[in-house]
Amino acid sequence: MPHDDDHVSRVKRIALMIGEKENADLKVLEVSAELHDVEREKEDHALRSAEKARKILEENGFERHFIERVYHCISTHSFSEDKKPETLEAKILSDADRLDAIGAIGIARAFMYAGERGLSIEDVIMHFETKLLRLKDLLHTETARKIAEKRHRFLLEFYKRIREEMELKDV
Ligand code: NI
Repeated sequence: MPHDDDHVSRVKRIALMIGEKENADLKVLEVSAELHDVEREKEDHALRSAEKARKILEENGFERHFIERVYHCISTHSFSEDKKPETLEAKILSDADRLDAIGAIGIARAFMYAGERGLSIEDVIMHFETKLLRLKDLLHTETARKIAEKRHRFLLEFYKRIREEMELKDV
């Protein structure tokens, strides 16, 4: 399975789990999660994915209101774009995507990404500092914040440890 597909399926599962606890619209969440990265490789991927999702859903006869709710979720889910999620479902999608970027899975994904692009361990450490270690403070729902605690702690421990080894402070 291509690793982007497995990211999407994890995001979908965790979004639905959070959605159940937070009483969200699960159909909106499910469709949003499935389509949230359809244009992953492109610049402004959140907006581009939202546009593409809208097109796909229109072609498949979904009703306008539903499509706009999904559009809002996808267009605001990204860390790098400054459009803020306003609906509960959009907040949950954004949280689910962020939870997949921390913890052991987040670490694995960061190294896979770096490996594909020929980046170094130092680059990954920088990515921890500029993005991944900040994500736990950028969550919207209580349920996600709870899940994030353990994942963040592990990420932080790994980060400290790898820095120690890089700087030979452990020898
Ligand atoms: Ni994603």
